Amino acid sequence: MRYWSFKDGFGLENLVAREGETPQPGPDEVLLELSAASLNYRDLVVMWGQHGRAVTTPLIPLSDGVGKVIKTGSAVQDFAIGDRVSPAFFQHWDGGAPPQNLERGRLGGPLDGVLTTHGVFPANALVRVPDYLSDAEAATLPCAGVTAWSALSEPAPVRPGETVLILGTGGVALLAISLAKAAGARVIVTTSSSERAAQVRKLGADLAINRNEVPNWSKTVREFTGGIGCDRVVELGGAATLMESVKAAKTGGTIIVVGNVTGNTAELFLPLVLTRRLTLHSVSVGPRQAFEALNRALDHHKIRPVVDTVFPFDRAPEAFRALESGGGFGNVCISCVQETEC
Ligand SMILES: NC(=O)c1ccc[n+]([C@@H]2O[C@H](COP(=O)([O-])OP(=O)(O)OC[C@H]3O[C@@H](n4cnc5c(N)ncnc54)[C@H](OP(=O)(O)O)[C@@H]3O)[C@@H](O)[C@H]2O)c1
Repeated sequence: MRYWSFKDGFGLENLVAREGETPQPGPDEVLLELSAASLNYRDLVVMWGQHGRAVTTPLIPLSDGVGKVIKTGSAVQDFAIGDRVSPAFFQHWDGGAPPQNLERGRLGGPLDGVLTTHGVFPANALVRVPDYLSDAEAATLPCAGVTAWSALSEPAPVRPGETVLILGTGGVALLAISLAKAAGARVIVTTSSSERAAQVRKLGADLAINRNEVPNWSKTVREFTGGIGCDRVVELGGAATLMESVKAAKTGGTIIVVGNVTGNTAELFLPLVLTRRLTLHSVSVGPRQAFEALNRALDHHKIRPVVDTVFPFDRAPEAFRALESGGGFGNVCISCVQETEC
């Protein structure tokens, strides 16, 4: 098999292409031939070496991928050769309350990830993906897709007619826009340019706010909602956006704390949180069962994740640079087969 590995440390200078023996599945495992992988902001954090002490090298990066079953262990009953599946982001969280050692079961750090032509995974951590999606589209689902789903399903699902504010146009945000529209919500998006604003309106957003032109966008959200505020914020910004998100939420509203692209330490004016009786609910991707629920919803509405670029396997470092530059619109993917497109 061929794979990419952070060999002797993090940073792109340590990401090297390698060849090795294809692993063989144990009784409860399957061998996948990977067809595509997709990058998340988290993979940049891993690449920067900033993901904490639990994530060490050598490491095969990336959590999000899709492939075909090419061999099954003797005890595997639920999957057959040829099935197209994705490994779940958490390899040990099926459903219900998260296990206490949650962080230990993540693909792409600390567990080896999917930037490989072949990989062995436990059968009980796999999910079939919808047939109508391309390999690149399906590859975006395990982390970005499931997180978007969880952000709209927890602590209670979005209801028709509610207003959902989604920050940015990253992988999580773009799928959240489509899922929230499919759930019957009004969707407001903040973004960094008028071009991106036009693109999210095409995806169905009812209002797109250019956060560079309107830095106090909570006012615009409140005006758009008749002075009430939004029901839910999918909070992907972190330090620099959390307070504005709190201001944008209605009394009794929910802030889904998902991301931290602008920094880890936020200041919060607690009287506003308290008087508005806001719920701050954090999301950590979701269990395997949430991935199955997401797939049912995608299939029902025939929603397609937005893919910006698919890099060939041999040019994997360029995919990291592309996501890091922030210049694209949609998920940055890598083909795990020897073709430029998948
Ligand atoms: N908790 C979880 O389970 C979980 C799971 C997945 C991701 N995350 C987190 O969610 C965040 C987004 O992840 P992703 O993979 O979707 O990221 P991504 O694809 O890299 O996209 C990040 C987006 O953030 C927006 N952004 C950048 N600077 C911003 C700023 N100053 N203010 C507001 N928005 C800004 C940009 O959109 P615009 O240019 O359009 O504004 C950009 O497209 C990350 O912090 C990631 O770690 C958390």
